[in-house]
Amino acid sequence: MSAAEQKSETKPPPPQHVAVIMDGNGRWAKLRGLPRAAGHQAGAEALRRTLRACIELGIGYLTVFAFSSENWKRPEAEVDDLMGLLRFYLKKEISHLKGRGIHLGFLGDRTGLAPDILEIMAHAERETADGKALNVTVALNYGGRDEIIRAVRTLAKECCEGQLSPEAIDEEILAARLDTAGIPDPDLIVRTSGEQRLSNFLSWQSAYSEMVFIPVLWPDFGRADMEAAIDEYQQRDRRYGAVAVS
Ligand code: IPE
Ligand code: IPE
Ligand code: MG
Repeated sequence: MSAAEQKSETKPPPPQHVAVIMDGNGRWAKLRGLPRAAGHQAGAEALRRTLRACIELGIGYLTVFAFSSENWKRPEAEVDDLMGLLRFYLKKEISHLKGRGIHLGFLGDRTGLAPDILEIMAHAERETADGKALNVTVALNYGGRDEIIRAVRTLAKECCEGQLSPEAIDEEILAARLDTAGIPDPDLIVRTSGEQRLSNFLSWQSAYSEMVFIPVLWPDFGRADMEAAIDEYQQRDRRYGAVAVS
């Protein structure tokens, strides 16, 4: 067997779950002398391309960071633009998503969102519940620390009500109270725009995720970038604290 054949035989499987921090919309717009909202709109198109690429590449789960619990600090007009885009795309895309076998879900604190958005989200979840081609999870009004606090409150209530003993709490029990209950941890987290931080994304779930940071601004992201990120992931040696298998 040639060295190349041996290498391809030992190539690790592609990631089952890819999470993406879709960053750089504002800089993309600024470079073109456009308002930031135009960057967010172009970002929504990049997301459509990415969904198609994930299905073609056989990814099982895609989680995308769309709006963080800290993004409320932005000017009100930008927050309104982002919420408007979300309403528009969720309504417009739902039948396409359903038709392509996409199952749509959401992470984040729903209590902070407008009632009509909550309704659109619930409708999207119901409509796509049978999707088997790709699980897409949109993180909206999401912060990793906020998610952990909400899970800890649930655990505390269960303990106070005598349904759970504090000693019984382990990783599995806490993970089951997170917004991501039932979703495997991300194997790969990609962040666009060149920033190299998590910005409060999947704080618990990223414990052993591989990170790939790419300089491309999110509105320019496409299938080739996803393939390159997956390729880099497949070069990594995931040891989980153990010794490398050589
Ligand atoms: C990501 O792009 C989209 C959201 C955070 C909603 P940004 O809006 O953060 O773009 P930059 O980082 O300012 O370029
Ligand atoms: C993270 O990007 C949130 C999303 C992509 C939705 P930000 O642009 O908000 O992150 P910081 O402020 O640069 O850390
Ligand atoms: Mg940003």
